[in-house]
Amino acid sequence: MQGRTAGNSFTVMNELVLPNDTNSFGNLMGGRLMYWMDIAAALAAMKHSNTPSMTASVDNISFKNPIKLGNIVHIEAKVTRSFNTSMEIHLKVWGEDSVHQYQYESNEAYFTFVALDPNGKPRPVPPIIPETEEEIKLYEGALRRRQLRLILAGKMKPDDANELKALFNK
Ligand SMILES: CC(C)(COP(=O)(O)OP(=O)(O)OC[C@H]1O[C@@H](n2cnc3c(N)ncnc32)[C@H](O)[C@@H]1OP(=O)(O)O)[C@@H](O)C(=O)NCCC(=O)NCCS
Repeated sequence: MQGRTAGNSFTVMNELVLPNDTNSFGNLMGGRLMYWMDIAAALAAMKHSNTPSMTASVDNISFKNPIKLGNIVHIEAKVTRSFNTSMEIHLKVWGEDSVHQYQYESNEAYFTFVALDPNGKPRPVPPIIPETEEEIKLYEGALRRRQLRLILAGKMKPDDANELKALFNK
């Protein structure tokens, strides 16, 4: 299958935090943000694979700064690497106070999506061609992150995680 550049999957999503999106502290609810992140990741996965794709897993997310009511949420998503039927998507999220004109980091995360055929079965996706320095770094780390998440999901034996083991056996 012909490879596609990581840049081809690049997706930008913006949202405005409205009262219905907030918790009792007047900040964006984590669950609402994760919902938006899931949509941005799905769009990136679908751009890469040209196929409906489903969330298989979400790696840990820690929120560094609350995003406030009336602020803008910026989400960027890009496929870092594809395997057989699955794709790892890297997301960067930050908030923007457009009145006082500053931006602040919210979080970074990795989502895994699986491309599905019309029968709902996983289907192969094109390989990723990383181009920029950042894309190459993310591409190279993706194999280790995949092995770790498959071990945690009980889908891989630690003994088979050669990339992870190599980190400790240098
Ligand atoms: C994701 C799903 C399609 C995988 O199906 P499956 O029968 O486990 O298929 P396989 O074991 O062949 O795995 C298919 C791919 O998913 C990957 N995968 C499966 N579980 C995974 C997990 N927990 N984390 C990361 N990747 C996972 C496999 O590594 C494989 O990738 P590869 O083909 O690139 O090697 C299936 O588990 C599913 O439908 N889950 C529910 C998804 C869902 O409903 N999401 C929305 C949230 S409500």
